[in-house]
Parts: sequence; C-alpha cells; structure tokens
Amino acid sequence: MTDVIEAETDDPYMFPYKGCNFPKNATSPEYLDTLEDFEIRDSDVFLVTYPKSGTVWTQQILTLMFANDYSGDYQSNFERMPWIEIQVPDLDVVNRPSPRLFASHLPYYLAPRGLKEKKGKVIYVLRNPKDTMVSYFHFSRMMLKLETMNNIDDLLEKYLSGDMIYGSWFEHVKGWFTHKDQLNCLFLSYEEMVKDLHSAVVKISKFIGKDLDDATIDMIVEKSTFKNMKNDPKANYEFLPDDVTDKKQGHFLRKGKVGDWKNTLTVAQNERFNEVFQTKMENVPLEIIWEL
Ligand code: A3P
Repeated sequence: MTDVIEAETDDPYMFPYKGCNFPKNATSPEYLDTLEDFEIRDSDVFLVTYPKSGTVWTQQILTLMFANDYSGDYQSNFERMPWIEIQVPDLDVVNRPSPRLFASHLPYYLAPRGLKEKKGKVIYVLRNPKDTMVSYFHFSRMMLKLETMNNIDDLLEKYLSGDMIYGSWFEHVKGWFTHKDQLNCLFLSYEEMVKDLHSAVVKISKFIGKDLDDATIDMIVEKSTFKNMKNDPKANYEFLPDDVTDKKQGHFLRKGKVGDWKNTLTVAQNERFNEVFQTKMENVPLEIIWEL
C-alpha cells in the first residue's frame, strides 16, 4: 500500500475525481486511478452503498457469515472488510487470503472492471434518500473529517445537486441499479432489512453461497440487531480515534429507523426534495420505501 498523497484542492474535506468527490487525506487520485484494474477474484465479496445506507450493518452481517473462513487476526470489521477506495497505511487490501471482503462507496463507473465481467459478488444496499440525508446530517456533526452541517437547509441543496462526499445519491443508485444485470449482484434495501432482518440474512447467505444452519442464521441475526450492535463497541465503530469522530456528538448507530425524515424535514423541504426526486428518478423502475 502506498502512502496517501494529499490531493490539491481548497476544500478541506473532499477532492473531486472524475465526477465524484472523495475524502481528503484518506485516498488520492493516483490510488483511485488503479482501482479500475484492481484484480477481482471470483471469491471476492463487495458490499456497495451510498453513505449512510446501512454499510456498517451489512458489514457486520457479512463478516459474521465469513467468520470461520479466515484464521487471520483482524481487530475490527473495518480491517476484515476494508473500503477498497480508502488507503490505510499497513492495511494490505490486495494480498490477503480469499475470500476477500470489501466495502465500497464507489460509483458504478469507477468500480473495478472485473466486477463488470461478473467476477466476484456485489451486494448493493439501497436506502431511501430522505433518511440517508437525515442520517448524514447527524453523521456530519460527529465525523470530524466531514464539513459540519448546521441545519438541513445547508445540506438540502448540496444533497440534491450531489455536492457531497461520494457524489450524488441519485447517480450512485441509478448507476448500480441500471447495470445490476451485468454483475453478480444482489440488490437489497435497508428498509427490507429493518422490516425482516431474518429474511434479509437468509437472502444474503444464499446469494454468497453459504449453507448456514438455522442456529448460525439466528446467531447472526441476534448479533446484527440495532440494540446489540449499538452495545458492541466494535460494531459501533467506537475504536475510531478522537481526531476522526467526536463521540459526544453521536455514534454510527443512531436511530436505525425508517421514516425519520418525517420528524426532520419541513413541508417545504420535503416538497423541494420530491420535486428533484421525481425529475432525477423518472424512468428508473426502482421502488423506494419511504416509511413502514
Ligand atoms: P441512522 O443515522 O438513520 O440511525 P452507514 O453504515 O452506511 O454509515 O449507515 C448508518 C445508518 O445505518 C445509521 O442510520 C445507523 O443507525 C443505521 N444502522 C446501523 N446498524 C443498524 C442496525 N443494526 N439496524 C438498523 N439500522 C442500523
């Protein structure tokens, strides 16, 4: 792994790269340039999400499913299933034993070519964009590496125009959704996971070709509930250093609900959101679950 080379822009938090935005000091254009050719093994599993869509949750499920497949000494879900686009010194994402597990927020068009040749498996988790935006609002207040959003109005237009870390929710979802048949891909929603976690876990295990017995499935479900993950410092990412997160402001696991946007957006903000959503998602046959 090469050292992180700081990208040159005035924005202290993110830098643009090929139509998307990436976290400053966590990756570099030179490293991102290598990802298209990142060699995919058939046994690789990629969890792909737009930020705040349930990444850490699904990461917990997948690392538990693969718990017996490695004898390595991984200290956290992050080490076991690193973000492919993030450079962490001393964490070798390439030369690790199979099955390799990766998380990613990359847009489809920047993803490794091998995935588009149906090598490896992709699990894409989608979450409705109003809840994702509200979740991000709170996240920005605890994540010291993100610009703090003081109110939803500050965030709304940025969010709708895609002036965000990892770009636009609309483009991210459309990119992966419209190409899903060209990949080995399971498309899941955060909302269906909230509604029926057991069924979601079974679905994921079948997709990755794991024949897990009922007791193992039950154990994974139990360890992946909101309550249990919140009380598990590893699953709740409590290990992140104090210069990355301000734990007085919040935690990765916040509310874990569907429809929290209704408690947050004003009528006018919601109407503005709907207007843009309708335009951007016109002709995309994707059902979004706004509330349960
Ligand atoms: P909220 O802020 O709405 O609570 P990501 O991991 O992509 O950053 O997503 C974080 C969101 O997923 C947060 O949403 C977090 O609470 C939610 N989440 C994480 N684990 C969860 C679980 N076990 N059940 C439900 N939601 C969970």
